[in-house]
Amino acid sequence: MRELSEFLRIPSVSTLPAHNQDCRRAADWVGAALRGLGCPKVEFLGSETHPVVWGVGPEVPGAPTLLIYGHYDVQPPDPLGEWTTPPFEPTVRDGRLYARGAADDKGQVFCLLKAIAAAAQPAVNFRFLIEGEEEYGSQVLFDLLKREPQRVAADAVLVADMSYVAPGWPAVYTTLRGLCYVEITVRTSKTDLHSGEYGGAAPNAHEELCRLLMRLKSENGQINIPGLYRAVKRPSKAELAAWKKLPFKEKDFLEKRVQGKGLVGLKKYSVLERLWALPTFEIHGILGGFTGEGAKTVIPAEATAKVSMRLVPNQKLKTVERQLAAAVKRFAPKYVTATVRFLHGADPAQITLTDASFQKLDAAFKSVLGRGTVPARAGGSIPVVPALASAGAPVILTGIGLPDDRLHAPNEKLELKQLWDGIEVFRKFYELLGKNGAS
Ligand code: BES
Ligand code: MN
Ligand code: MN
Repeated sequence: MRELSEFLRIPSVSTLPAHNQDCRRAADWVGAALRGLGCPKVEFLGSETHPVVWGVGPEVPGAPTLLIYGHYDVQPPDPLGEWTTPPFEPTVRDGRLYARGAADDKGQVFCLLKAIAAAAQPAVNFRFLIEGEEEYGSQVLFDLLKREPQRVAADAVLVADMSYVAPGWPAVYTTLRGLCYVEITVRTSKTDLHSGEYGGAAPNAHEELCRLLMRLKSENGQINIPGLYRAVKRPSKAELAAWKKLPFKEKDFLEKRVQGKGLVGLKKYSVLERLWALPTFEIHGILGGFTGEGAKTVIPAEATAKVSMRLVPNQKLKTVERQLAAAVKRFAPKYVTATVRFLHGADPAQITLTDASFQKLDAAFKSVLGRGTVPARAGGSIPVVPALASAGAPVILTGIGLPDDRLHAPNEKLELKQLWDGIEVFRKFYELLGKNGAS
């Protein structure tokens, strides 16, 4: 608890330059932890921005190689006022550890490392790739793996950055959604204008931006970007039928997790299909105009929306980028200058569960919890997963969190039972992996 709390106390928010030093401190923490596990080699790579921590465990001749991937960076903690205790002062209440990063992903990285310390010298050659830019698009790691693809050569890659599908129901994930993150900017005049002198005849950037956004997605959830759905591959009948058996109730999802008054989206698809197998279009924030205290009568000349789209198999980021830019151009009126600036993105990932290492993970969960892993899909993204899979190693996507851990939101938590069970599970997994040599 002391060690994990130290890690969680570091505000390693990768997207905010003010926290660059903190990201560095979090990388140092990871480096020290790897050395503590006996890694003779620990390196900080690609340090133009937040370094990737690379570690090589003690050499065990003939044993399989397991590459462990994780991230030490976290999302911004705002809105701060909504946290019961401050985000970077880890606190336990009712068996739950509250902190930014508790579940995503510091607590889970910690779990994977502690399980190594707990195992009786597992016959596994460990490699570690713990990055500090996952929450910001993973550009450094992408560049590194392009230069040095052999870093991902392994018998298996283990990623614990997800959750169980429900308490007591651990999962292994077959897809992650991709992402296309952009800023859409609309300009309507050279400068802001007095809304009395010009209002009624001059265009308003915020109004034009809102209209543009509304054209891009309809009220029923349909995204109106020409060609967008063409590549979307529907899940098989068997997969859709399997999802019906998962412990997931649309009513509980609305009442307990969304905690809203109604769900939206394409109603002819189940909620799980909307969350896991359909693309999205989300507005994250709108900037520009007058938002200060008081009142100012002005027609804003410029407005910007931060928007991202989630992509599903078999969509390609490059294609979606093009389709989105073309749609913005097409839907903006002649008198409006609309531009799309691409910030970061990722292709969707697809994993087949054929390798023997998946059975070992299943057996490890079964031995600790009495229930093995169920195959599921994830709505979130981990940009480098397709690159981690590029050398042919199976990428095991799993996690010890729970669906209500509130990732990226106020009061993020990790239940301590999940952590203690998780350490047991991965200890067992490493032992099984080492038992019959390379799988
Ligand atoms: N751990 C999440 C990804 C995740 C969350 C997968 C929930 C499955 C279920 C990861 O840290 C994350 O948040 N990724 C970002 C990536 C983006 C910023 C490039 C995401 O999905 O928004
Ligand atoms: Mn994560
Ligand atoms: Mn995250």
